Amino acid sequence: MRREELLQDAIEAREFAYAPYSNFRVGAALLTRDGKVYKGCNIENAAYGCTICAERVAMFKAISDGERAFLAICVVADGDVVCAPCGACRQVMAEFAPDMMVIMANLAGAYEIKMAFELLPHAFRGK
Ligand code: THU
Repeated sequence: MRREELLQDAIEAREFAYAPYSNFRVGAALLTRDGKVYKGCNIENAAYGCTICAERVAMFKAISDGERAFLAICVVADGDVVCAPCGACRQVMAEFAPDMMVIMANLAGAYEIKMAFELLPHAFRGK
């Protein structure tokens, strides 16, 4: 699948963002090795700490569906710069998909690509 298609899926996912507290709407699209795409959006809560990011929604949807092999995730928001995953999302990426490509984008068309392991050096691995 091409980067533009995954970006389009992430933009579509962003439409469902529930972000009344930050007004920062994020979409993510996760590509599995067998070509399936799982979408996620950020979901906030009046108790702010209950908020979950778009990337983790997409990853948890896929993992809870039995998926374990991921090729790429695209994350997009409407910022001046590309949307970079938070530390918690990087930790989840390190657990399940350190070799996954992370495409960080904004709605203006800017993008940057890193591997998940590059985003969290010295990740905690349970030891
Ligand atoms: N957020 C994401 O969904 N993904 C990111 O990569 C960065 C932050 C969300 C969490 C919260 O709902 C809002 O953006 C502001 O932090």
